[in-house]
This record gives sequence, structure tokens and C-alpha cells, in this order.
Amino acid sequence: MCGIVGILGTHEVAPTLVEALRRLEYRGYDSAGIATINDGRLDRRRAVGKLDNLSDLLVHEPLTGKSGIGHTRWATHGAPSVANAHPHCAGPVAVVHNGIIENYRDLRAELTAAGLGFDTETDSETVALLTRHLMEQGAGPVDAAKETLSRLEGAYALAFLFDGESDLIVAARKGSPLAVGHGDGEMYVGSDAIALAPMTDRITYLEEGDCAVLTRAGVTITDANGALANREVRRIDVDSKRVDKGGHRHFMMKEIAEQPVVLGDALKHYLTADGRGIDLDADLPDFKSIDRISLVACGTAYYAGLTAKYWFEQLAGLPTDADIASEFRYREPPIPARTAAIFVSQSGETADTLAALRYCEGRAARRLAVVNVPESSIARECDIALPILAGAEIGVASTKAFTCQLAVLLLLALKAAHDRGRLDDDELADRLSTLRSLPALIGLTLEQDEAFHMAANRLAEFDHALFLGRGTLFPLALEGALKLKEISYIHAEGYASGELKHGPIALIDQSMPVVVMAPSDALFDKTVSNMQEVMARDGKVMLITDRTGATAAQDGVWRQLVLPDCDPLVAPILYAVPAQLLAYHTAVAKGTDVDQPRNLAKSVTVE
Ligand code: F6R
Repeated sequence: MCGIVGILGTHEVAPTLVEALRRLEYRGYDSAGIATINDGRLDRRRAVGKLDNLSDLLVHEPLTGKSGIGHTRWATHGAPSVANAHPHCAGPVAVVHNGIIENYRDLRAELTAAGLGFDTETDSETVALLTRHLMEQGAGPVDAAKETLSRLEGAYALAFLFDGESDLIVAARKGSPLAVGHGDGEMYVGSDAIALAPMTDRITYLEEGDCAVLTRAGVTITDANGALANREVRRIDVDSKRVDKGGHRHFMMKEIAEQPVVLGDALKHYLTADGRGIDLDADLPDFKSIDRISLVACGTAYYAGLTAKYWFEQLAGLPTDADIASEFRYREPPIPARTAAIFVSQSGETADTLAALRYCEGRAARRLAVVNVPESSIARECDIALPILAGAEIGVASTKAFTCQLAVLLLLALKAAHDRGRLDDDELADRLSTLRSLPALIGLTLEQDEAFHMAANRLAEFDHALFLGRGTLFPLALEGALKLKEISYIHAEGYASGELKHGPIALIDQSMPVVVMAPSDALFDKTVSNMQEVMARDGKVMLITDRTGATAAQDGVWRQLVLPDCDPLVAPILYAVPAQLLAYHTAVAKGTDVDQPRNLAKSVTVE
């Protein structure tokens, strides 16, 4: 993944580079580094671990200069170490890279044969060395960078800085996002507009294959064919205060607590003024013309898609597939012409989801994106983008984006049901009224935070956990397990309740807590039977249910958490909250890094 930034400034750039990297830390935090040009000479500082380590280093070993590039790393090739940290320098060139150079082994062999030595285990260093090699053969910096780009296979967002060239940054994008920022006598480049927000709101998004040559006077962009490209300068509304935890200890808790408000805002945005109809996007297809839905996403967003599969099938009677994007893109699935393909993504930059979106171009009748970042690649490349309006999500573990994704997907499924005559106006209004009750129900659930806190303290004593759910609560069991493992590092698996006896039940003993998500719906009794099977084998059941469920099932249950009663339609959205709170408090109890768990990054721009 990684985040990159470059600045041609009028003041010392090191502090601004570090501030921009802080805003990109969601892309990776294994190591960080910056390079500047000082008195015409390249110099750099790099440190392993969080950005604070680089900041500390810069206090002791400052870096001066008004031109610079920076990088925050999520390791792909080579362990997190100072040597592998970017910028990579080779003779007169320094390079920062986000992406993966797939032909780096061939390039490395070629450069080694030409007598060049490598200092790192990274794929990225080949970019610096190839550029150096070309410059040693007489190419100027811009030509050498462009020639290097033409030799690269894979994905990249790159920024090059050159010895003796304090008014030049060359930047390029293929497969990884990159934005150019326009200042007054200054120019910037960064992985996203948020990184550049404190400096400028005037942004040009580079397109696939673009190469940008920046000087303080402006930018010249050429497209993948080398032709001059005229790219729009947009004014971006980026909240520059987005690094505020709002009084909470962690971003994750702040984002969990924000859910009643952001969900309420999203519903207000997408419902008609009288609350009886849906007003999503005028360009949306009439679902009578659609025969099939294909939902594609990764991770938590995939679980939102999997939940929506139940809704599209049950409410709208539409055959629906939900796919993990990394599998979908290489499976070459046939896409019947009357398919609406829906891509779900918080960041809108996930490489596999983006590739799946491109695969569906010219195949699916419509490509819809359900995204949180409206300026993202996925939002810009699809036919219709439906923003989920969750606001900036900083915690690496997705919380409010998940519930807002679910809300927008449920609205889509309800619209499909209405278009296809399976719900009349009154029935639709009735379902929407149920949906409008959700923010208040989530508010009531959040008020019981202490109960989840205490339950989590017990969960933190175990090394493993299972999550069970049926129907629309099955994808939530998967999500609950993902949330727990990614931030508390407790091994957890989610299963459909009915699937337990087909293998996983062998794992049940006293050391295996089983979190069961079961509102008292039509499937409740079946889930209670599965719970009994667990308890009969000394398994510890933590039941999350409503009052009716709690009364019916209390015997033998290890711990019980009682949520407000809700209509089954919105249960997967409401029950997401206890799953999030359990994971959060367990991680806090274990003392892990809640907002930036190990090995992860917020935006996954590599395959
Ligand atoms: C887990 C989590 C990830 C993301 C996944 C997709 O808490 O956040 O599983 O859901 O990486 O990311 P987006 O939604 O940005 O495409």
C-alpha cells in the first residue's frame, strides 16, 4: 500500500512532509522516510516503525531544504528495516513508491549484470537504480524517469527527486492513486487529497498511465501514450481537522460512537422529504430491467455485500452473487448483460475491487459503487457512485463505514423490490420507517457499553473464539470474527450456525468461547439448538440477543448481552455494534494498538 508525498515549496519542507505522511499513515506504518534537496544535494532520513520515530530522528538529525519527497511504508518486499525504508537513493536520484513492481527480478538481474549493486530487498529500489543507470548513460532526469516508467510492469505511484534539481519532481501513476496539488508558487503530489489538504484544496487526479512533471510554476502531464494531457483542477472539500479523536481514546471508539449520527445523516440524504420514498440517484437503473446482481468487495466491505445478497434475494427476488474481489477478478466469471454489478469499498482505492470494476466494464449493464470516499478511483471509474456518507474513517478496523454500507445497500435492495413490484408504496414506506428507527436503536445499544466492556474483559482471557449467526446474521458472524482478530490478535472464526456440526464443533471445549448473534427472529429456535450443541460439549456461549431471546435461552449460557428489540430487516446493522464494541474492548484489555494494528493498512492498493 504505502503513502507517498512530494513538495516543491517556498519554506523548509521537512515538517510539512512529516505532517502529510501523518495523514497518510493509514496506508501503512512499518517505516517512514523523507528526502530533501539541501544546497543542491540529496539527503534523507529514515526510521523503522511509526512516524513518531522519524519525527524523533529529525529532531536529532534535522533535514533542511525546500524540495522533498516522503514515504510511509506497508512492507511487501523485504522486512520493515531502515535499509528497506523509502526513499530509495541511487546516485543522483531518490524515489518513493507505492505499489508492486512485478518484473523487479528481471530488472534486478539486468542491472546487476551492468555492475550496479543493490542495498535493499525491495522491488522499489530497482526503479531508483534503473533511473540512475539511464542517467549515467546520458539521459536527463525527466527522460530517464520516463524511460524507467516504460520498463516497469505492475502497479505504481512514484515520485522522483534529483540531485541538483531543486525545482523538479517527476511523478507517475499506474494502478495506484496519485493526486497533484496546486499551491501559490508551490506544487505538491500525494497518494490522496487528504495528505495535501493542509497545503491546498486545488487537486488534479492523475489517470492511469499519466506522468506528471512538476516545477514550482506548474505541472505538465502526459498520458500513457506520451501525449500531452489536460487534466481538470478540482476544488476538493477535505476536512483538514480529520485527525481529531473527539475526546475518545481511540479513533475506533469515536467512529463506533458516531454511528447514530452518520447513519441518520445518510438516511436523511437518501430518503424523500416525507420519508416514504427513496431518492438514491436519478441515473440508477429501473431494477425491472435487471436480472441479476453481482456484489464485489474485500474484507469488511465484502461482508456488507454478503448481507446485501440476502436482501436482494429475499426482498427483490433478484438472483445475487457476492464475491471476494481478489477471487472474482481472476475467475473470469461470465456476466450476463442484464447484471447490475455493485462494488463496495470504504476507501474506494482497494486494488482488487478496482480491478473487478474494470473487468465489468462493457460487460455489466451498470456498475455501481457504494463508497465512502467520493473522490476515490472506484467512485470516479464506475457508472454511478453512491456515497455512504460515513465521514472520514481513520481507525484501520472498519466500523461506521460498515453500517453505512449496509444502510445504503438495504436502500438499494428496497428500491429494487419496489421497482419490481414486490413492495407497494405503503409497504416500502413501512420498511423505511423501520430503517429510520435504527439510529435510535444504535444509540440505546451504545448506552450499554459497560456491559460489552465487561464481557470483552472475559473474552480477552482466551486465545480463540468462534462467532455464529444464521441468515443475515451469518455475514455478521464473519465480520465479528474479523473485527476481533484484526485488532486483538485473538484467533477467531465466523460460521453459519448450522454449519458448526459439519466440522468446527470438534474445536469446542472449555477454552473456546462461542459468540452467538441471534435476535429472536424466525430462525432463533434453530440457533438455540446449535447453542445447546455447543453447551453440551462444555463450550462457553456468549449470546447476543434481544429481551425475548434472552428469556427463552438463558439456561446454561455463559454470558448474555441484551440489545433493544428490532425488526429482523435491520438486525444485521444493529448487531454490528456489539460485534465492534466487543472487539474494541477486548483489544484495549489486551493492550494492542487499536487504531493501527500490526501488519495492516487502511487502504489496500496492492493485490
Ligand atoms: C477490516 C477492514 C478491511 C476492509 C478491506 C476493504 O476492518 O477494514 O477488511 O474492509 O480492506 O477495504 P475498502 O472498504 O477500503 O475497499
